[in-house]
Amino acid sequence: MANDISFKERFGREPTILTRSPGRVNLIGEHTDYNMGFVLPFAIDKYIKLAAAPRSDRKLRIHSERADETIEVKLDGHIGPLGELSNWANHARGVAWWMSQQQYTPVGADILIWGDLPVGAGLSSSASLLMGLIGTMSALSGWTIPRAEMARAAQKIENDFVEAPTGIMDQIAIGMSEPGSALLLDCRSMATHHVPLNLDAHGLSIVVVNSGIARDLAESPYARRQKECEASLGALKVITYDLSLQSLRDVSMEMLTRHGSKLYPTLYKRARHVVTENERVLQTVSALGDSDFETVGRLMNDSHDSLKNDFEVSNAFMDKLVELAQDEEGTLGARMTGGGFGGCTVNLVPTANLRSFTRNIPRRYAEETSLHARAYIVKPSGGLEVEALTA
Ligand code: GLA
Repeated sequence: MANDISFKERFGREPTILTRSPGRVNLIGEHTDYNMGFVLPFAIDKYIKLAAAPRSDRKLRIHSERADETIEVKLDGHIGPLGELSNWANHARGVAWWMSQQQYTPVGADILIWGDLPVGAGLSSSASLLMGLIGTMSALSGWTIPRAEMARAAQKIENDFVEAPTGIMDQIAIGMSEPGSALLLDCRSMATHHVPLNLDAHGLSIVVVNSGIARDLAESPYARRQKECEASLGALKVITYDLSLQSLRDVSMEMLTRHGSKLYPTLYKRARHVVTENERVLQTVSALGDSDFETVGRLMNDSHDSLKNDFEVSNAFMDKLVELAQDEEGTLGARMTGGGFGGCTVNLVPTANLRSFTRNIPRRYAEETSLHARAYIVKPSGGLEVEALTA
């Protein structure tokens, strides 16, 4: 990890901790995490970075280069959100709030935040910032917090402090990914399994394309989709007399086919997406094991269709980006990734075609929508790294 010079310029001393917290892309398994299903994300080589040193008073002084803003948080006394909930500073306050509540008493600190992870693009910059802050502040304070607990903490801060409804996928992917692999997460048991992607060996690359439509979970119908899934489950319990159904994870396609006509059509479609998407995740893992990338690509395309038609979380811009990518010579698969309603697409592209893909897609998208898309070639990378610097 490169050292940071501007920490010294800003705070007049050397940092003692350097942290690198990645963003994430989800290969497949969308809107399944809060239905206790399966997801297959991986961390990417775009990061939020933090440099920090402890202070002897009970104060946090945190500067964000991107926001060009410094905040102070007094660690003694009430810590609550201030102003716009989604503001980066509330993520920092949220971490101090959570640690204090958990008796992981945080020490005062100077912290500098910078990085190259696009914000608001559906690459989990919020979860990345939270995981980076938890990693940094716990290391400074001498606490060892297991990655799964950090991830649950980051989710709790999002849900309860900044009031953004999210599942657990992003935080776990950021905390636990390994280089070169995707992370299969069973969101019920929380069991994880590293699934090697072997992209280089097969001359393949992952391209993420940012649609230029910012995505804000708190503002999007994401929470409504969560409620619709609950309603769909509730109705299925009544219809099937099966009270053991705990989540849409427990619903089979056979059950849906048999009883689906008794559900409101919208609730039927939401359930069908979750049931088929869970199957697609497991099929993707098995296709990856066989190095069958044609199948992986087809499953990605099917996932997009399901998100568009059944779960209805895409929009005309995302559909256009996906359509252009699927029409592009050689592309194996393309789909929207993340919560939807904007953000990014994920594309499986032959490395030999990268130049034409990254040139053609933004150009055609601009011709058809007048919006500027940005393509990033991303590498499946390791998760959160916190490094203690020796003097
Ligand atoms: C957002 C949430 C995740 C997950 C995805 C949809 O990224 O933060 O928890 O629900 O949407 O798969």
